[in-house]
Amino acid sequence: MSVLNETYTLSNGVTIPKVGFGTWQIPNGDAAYDAVTTALKTGYTHIDTAYAYGNEESVGKAIKDSGIERDKVFVTSKLPGEIKDAEEARRHFVETLANLGTDYLDLYLIHAPWPWNRIGTRHDEGNLEVWKVLEEQYRAGRIRAIGVSNFDVHDLTNILDNAEVKPMVNQIQYYVGFTEPTIVDFSQKNGMLIEAYSPLATGDLLHNSQVQGMAAKYGVSVAQVALRFCLDNGVLPLPKATSEAHIVTNAELNFTIDPEDQEALRHLSDSAPEHFHNSTQG
Ligand SMILES: NC(=O)c1ccc[n+]([C@@H]2O[C@H](COP(=O)([O-])OP(=O)(O)OC[C@H]3O[C@@H](n4cnc5c(N)ncnc54)[C@H](OP(=O)(O)O)[C@@H]3O)[C@@H](O)[C@H]2O)c1
Repeated sequence: MSVLNETYTLSNGVTIPKVGFGTWQIPNGDAAYDAVTTALKTGYTHIDTAYAYGNEESVGKAIKDSGIERDKVFVTSKLPGEIKDAEEARRHFVETLANLGTDYLDLYLIHAPWPWNRIGTRHDEGNLEVWKVLEEQYRAGRIRAIGVSNFDVHDLTNILDNAEVKPMVNQIQYYVGFTEPTIVDFSQKNGMLIEAYSPLATGDLLHNSQVQGMAAKYGVSVAQVALRFCLDNGVLPLPKATSEAHIVTNAELNFTIDPEDQEALRHLSDSAPEHFHNSTQG
């Protein structure tokens, strides 16, 4: 069975395809439309976008034009990190639905606990205020699962201590050599699935000689090792690609990495030291 047909189950029982298709930095218009169309033709059924990516419209159109029934595609979007008040959160959610041309989302995340120009600052009250909007829309049936992104242990604790519905997902930067074990352990202990964003370190991981050696050993690409690594650790990778060859091979993950090599990958020091690291995560 293709990995594209495999699922994880979230804490509320909703199933989520094990590999998602990332769309950050794919411009709205032909580029996003073509990439998502190719992904859907390849068999991906899980698309990750965000209001902030500016491409929800083309992502939604590609899904609609694919002819695949809406309930056969798992669609994630995100509330911008800059939005920390309820009214604005509701307005953005409505706009996201309209952009995507859908009346519900499968997963909606708070994109970040802080505005992107103030990474690392605390916004406990604002995060709770917008979390309550996610809860409200979840209860109303307009979102099937809710979660967060870029939240560290402090930000998660703030939600867990005060929320009525616990987050089902934490989407964080995660790749071979940068696995944020403190956040991962805490999230998993509290019932959240970890989604790996930038599982290829936005491409920077591809030049790592140790991972290249591992890929050669198994007769696969560096990207395939990096994505298999996520799955072997119970994490859901969100590879982004625009090249059709990349889109196709990123879904060919039916190979096994020996336990000792899995362990070696777990202990690799940062495989892409030049890559931007989210300084609030460790
Ligand atoms: N929540 C957040 O704050 C957040 C932050 C960052 C990312 N994300 C999500 O995570 C997704 C993935 O992260 P990312 O966009 O940083 O990138 P990524 O998936 O880590 O890497 C994408 C880069 O790798 C290349 N690539 C993909 N497959 C390849 C292959 N098989 N061989 C060689 N090169 C390959 C792509 O090239 P081509 O495009 O040329 O094919 C692109 O340059 C995003 O698109 C987004 O959905 C979320």
